[in-house]
Amino acid sequence: MGISGIWASRLAAAPSHRDWREDRTLFPQGVASGDPDDHSIVLWTRRPYEKGERHELTVEIALDPDFRRVVATARTPVLAAADWTCRALVGGLAPATVHWYRFTDDSGAGSRIGRTITAPRATDQRPVRFAFVSCNSVNEGAQNAYRRMIWEDARAPADRKLGFVLHLGDFIYEVVEYPEETPHRYARTGYDLGHIPDARKVGNF
Ligand SMILES: [Fe+2]
Repeated sequence: MGISGIWASRLAAAPSHRDWREDRTLFPQGVASGDPDDHSIVLWTRRPYEKGERHELTVEIALDPDFRRVVATARTPVLAAADWTCRALVGGLAPATVHWYRFTDDSGAGSRIGRTITAPRATDQRPVRFAFVSCNSVNEGAQNAYRRMIWEDARAPADRKLGFVLHLGDFIYEVVEYPEETPHRYARTGYDLGHIPDARKVGNF
């Protein structure tokens, strides 16, 4: 399945032993988390290497952003065959709980720190707030919706923060529209974000 399975120990939470210094150039796509349930979550990053077919990262997930209460530490592979992406499924987590996570390579260079939340139990009676997103068209959007969502969520009072984000699909469109050919569609402006050098036009969208 191309995913590492990791089991957390909430009872044995301990400070991180890893040297970690953030280096976003080595983790150019940052981090992501998804598919939460009430005891597990999938963590993702990409760490491209110049050489080799397989390297390993250390992934840590903690109950605090300073990683003093780490509940799981594990090695997880990154593969050239997967375009240097890596996915780790962490189980054994507490429900409806905020966690922080990060990846570190063997030089100590690390991803940015991600924040994620496990799902509530099915019997949890508390209301949940969520946002939905869809339809990422590179050429028609300024691609700032996620940042705006984070900006608003960071300033929201505790009872109005998001519990999860639901992606409805069209994660990113398979088509590219160049603004010299399609300057506008609907009321949207097409942006020139660069041309694909080896692309061949097969038809109009
Ligand atoms: Fe769409």
